[in-house]
Amino acid sequence: MECLLRSYWNPSVLLFFSLLLWRACEARTGADSRPNILILMADDLGIGDVGCYGNVTIRTPNIDRLAKEGVKLTQHIAAAPLCTPSRAAFMTGRYAVRSGMDSANFFRILFWIGGSGGLPPNETTFAKVLQQQGYTTGLIGKWHLGVNCESHTDHCHHPLNHGFDYFYGMPHTLLNDCQPGKPSELGLVLRYRLWFCTQMIALAVLTAVLVKLTGFCPFSWKMITSLALFGILFFISWYSSYGFIRYWDCLMMRNYEVTEQPMKVERAYSLVLKEAVSFIERSRRGPFLLFVSFLHVHTPLVTSERFVGRSQHGLYGDNVEEMDWMIGQILDAVDKEGLQNNTLTYFASDHGGFLEAREGDAQLGGWNGIYKGGKGMGGWEGGIRVPGIFRWPGVLPADTVIDEPTSLMDIYPTAIHLGGGKVPQDRIIDGHDLMPLFQRKVKHSDHEFMFHYCGIYLHAVRWHQKEVGAVWKAHYTTPVFQPEGAGACYGRRMCPCVGEHVTHHNPPLLFDLSRDPSESKPLSTATEPQFDTIIKRIEQAVEEHRKTLTPVPLQFTWWNNIWKPWLQPCCGTFPMCWCD
Ligand SMILES: *[C@@H]1O[C@H](CO)[C@@H](O)[C@H](O)[C@H]1NC(C)=O
Ligand SMILES: *[C@@H]1O[C@H](CO)[C@@H](O)[C@H](O)[C@H]1NC(C)=O
Ligand SMILES: *[C@@H]1O[C@H](CO)[C@@H](O)[C@H](O)[C@H]1NC(C)=O
Repeated sequence: MECLLRSYWNPSVLLFFSLLLWRACEARTGADSRPNILILMADDLGIGDVGCYGNVTIRTPNIDRLAKEGVKLTQHIAAAPLCTPSRAAFMTGRYAVRSGMDSANFFRILFWIGGSGGLPPNETTFAKVLQQQGYTTGLIGKWHLGVNCESHTDHCHHPLNHGFDYFYGMPHTLLNDCQPGKPSELGLVLRYRLWFCTQMIALAVLTAVLVKLTGFCPFSWKMITSLALFGILFFISWYSSYGFIRYWDCLMMRNYEVTEQPMKVERAYSLVLKEAVSFIERSRRGPFLLFVSFLHVHTPLVTSERFVGRSQHGLYGDNVEEMDWMIGQILDAVDKEGLQNNTLTYFASDHGGFLEAREGDAQLGGWNGIYKGGKGMGGWEGGIRVPGIFRWPGVLPADTVIDEPTSLMDIYPTAIHLGGGKVPQDRIIDGHDLMPLFQRKVKHSDHEFMFHYCGIYLHAVRWHQKEVGAVWKAHYTTPVFQPEGAGACYGRRMCPCVGEHVTHHNPPLLFDLSRDPSESKPLSTATEPQFDTIIKRIEQAVEEHRKTLTPVPLQFTWWNNIWKPWLQPCCGTFPMCWCD
């Protein structure tokens, strides 16, 4: 006993204990100041589909609760009106053109898991920075930013190569093609072009062979053979679009392992929910980053029996209400672990609702409220203005509405700063830290100009002229609506960004969103005395912006976006890829 007491008072033991105590305190305060980050992202959800954004007939009590307990952004803008580019910008905090993740042709998204395009390995996602800061990072749900580059095992674009410790979900996106009996979604877009290219290449090869045999051909046999192989790839890609999309694109992975191929879409929602909840449970000691990237509310709107027929808005409304219920379950898991005050929760949609998604009279896409246009439609507000809600009880004010322009790219510096990290200094980051705005340390957001791209083409620019409170938007190019006035490109699957189906405007169409959020009355020199000055200022900003762009390899080229059998993730022996 005496010995024990003596050793107790030994100075080095004392030092040891006080050090321990100090470490423990440091760890506590450290954990307190670094929140968990929970991101809930809907796919294709319109801003008009959510209760707290003014929808009185659709029930989204859980999303509404987030708004009640946090900050609701009314001018939250996606960097692109389409999945892949918008998500690339979201993950990197940079316009998709900076990483080559936007389109210069008719391929506006990545079509195949077996393609070689995707988020370049040298891009740094916020997940990667948080991972380096000691966060446990997980992605549950949709990725759609590519998988492989050169072989089916390199996983160069895979979430695990972009800062996530854990991935469970679809490396691609949900599609009609994933549910047997639904009209093909991808096939329609792809087939015609692929078949056309196959024929053209075949013709070119034949001509080259004939000319070569007569002796006048400047091409070598090696070149002709390469061209022929290229043609064969196009042919396989075309052939695969019949019935094979389900096998090649509709699969679930856990980390690098394919767990279901083709996946059973009916049970995906419950697996996503289960995985999200168990990630929270096992990471409760924190800090963690969990990105739940819902397969909802993308077509084919797979909805569980409990929710079918429950809403007033058909299958689409049912699917929205099911997603809201899932959000409630995930928030409950956070509460159950006592983490609500230690977690920054963020809800958003990747872009606006899909107006062209309809079957007969049934509307299968979202509603963008008072905003014009929707998914895919260049710079029109309906495609890019999305719900955006942040909650962090005790730190962010509750029940607060902020009308300042903000971007989905803002999560990048915001999350990194909260995690104690530094944004990369060797590249341009287009997002801005939102905490000063949320905590009312500044009156205005840092976004003065925002650039609205359609593919790699700049369609419109927004200028927040802070001194006068105006939000100008100039459209240089707009998609042609078919039929004119209906607000959607019916008859086509999606509005294109270039070519004969867009209109160029010179002078640009100008609106003041603060007075005319529906972009219904273009201003002119007669109705807006400042017209010329405004256009000039915007043009100057475009010029400055252009100077910051550097050419990078494009990820959506034909070559990157055709199906390459040797890149296809497969759970059996290729081509017998099926597992459950
Ligand atoms: C609510 O959402 C549904 C489904 O998208 C839509 O049809 C309806 O017009 C919306 N209602 C309002 C008031 O925005
Ligand atoms: C969380 O923070 C809120 C607001 O500061 C407070 O009212 C509540 O009691 C806290 N809850 C827990 C579980 O600490
Ligand atoms: C990534 O690599 C590409 C091509 O090698 C290059 O053009 C681009 O600038 C690089 N990006 C960054 C952020 O370093």
